[in-house]
Amino acid sequence: MTISVKDLNFFYGSSQALFDINLTAEDGDTVVLLGPSGAGKSTLIRTLNLLEVPKSGELSIANNKFDLSVATANPKQMRRLRQDVGMVFQQYNLWPHLTVIENLIEAPVKVLGLETDAAKKDALELLKRLRLEQFADRFPLHLSGGQQQRVAIARALMMKPQVLLFDEPTAALDPEITAQIVSIIQELQETGITQVIVTHEVSVAKKVATKVVYMEQGRIVEMGDVGCFDNPQTEQFRQYLSHSD
Ligand SMILES: Nc1ncnc2c1ncn2[C@@H]1O[C@H](COP(=O)(O)OP(=O)(O)OP(=O)(O)O)[C@@H](O)[C@H]1O
Ligand SMILES: [Mg+2]
Repeated sequence: MTISVKDLNFFYGSSQALFDINLTAEDGDTVVLLGPSGAGKSTLIRTLNLLEVPKSGELSIANNKFDLSVATANPKQMRRLRQDVGMVFQQYNLWPHLTVIENLIEAPVKVLGLETDAAKKDALELLKRLRLEQFADRFPLHLSGGQQQRVAIARALMMKPQVLLFDEPTAALDPEITAQIVSIIQELQETGITQVIVTHEVSVAKKVATKVVYMEQGRIVEMGDVGCFDNPQTEQFRQYLSHSD
């Protein structure tokens, strides 16, 4: 099992945002997190690499194990976790003062200690795979939103993560660019990487999901395979689907 979350509870100050979350994913799964605004999707995905630290529960992800009610992770454990679990944010979060290739090699060189030339070679291969090689020397702000999103995916892949987390990877992208991102996610599925994807777009979710998680108000309401798009098991998920797309 690549991901196992047990009885996880998370608070913003005194306000509880996640309640008793239990979740598993196998190697190669693509878990899609759906739910209305404020349901806790971003919070949950951020707890998976401890960008948000839960108050209690157990987290096991890509062989990194944390008993969250006992101790906080030490810096070495956090480094290992961030290496094994990559994250792509909605706002891309690329470094504006670095070119595309510099964005890609920054962490492998600084964190993993890779030689610059070796890192550049890896980066160029990846840019080619994502059809971005012509943009290697451009600055992020001189790229379209869709191109920046693909660079953000390439940057996350540079660390060779076992799990890749996406928070709304296709928000604000037009249908053609959304289709490109969907096909990148599908290509990554074939490499056996495990993906967790927050999205508002049910059509995107249907194309990539091997596992579906529907949340409301900090709780998982329904969890199942792609079959639950046609046969939702709860009234809440049925309602949500009937209002989408
Ligand atoms: N930094 C924060 N401090 C306090 N409360 C927060 C913070 N971030 C989120 N929340 C609250 O936690 C709850 C879950 O928020 P979250 O961002 O996880 O929802 P979401 O499902 O991702 O919503 P959306 O679809 O709008 O992105 C909301 O009630 C939100 O107001
Ligand atoms: Mg969100």
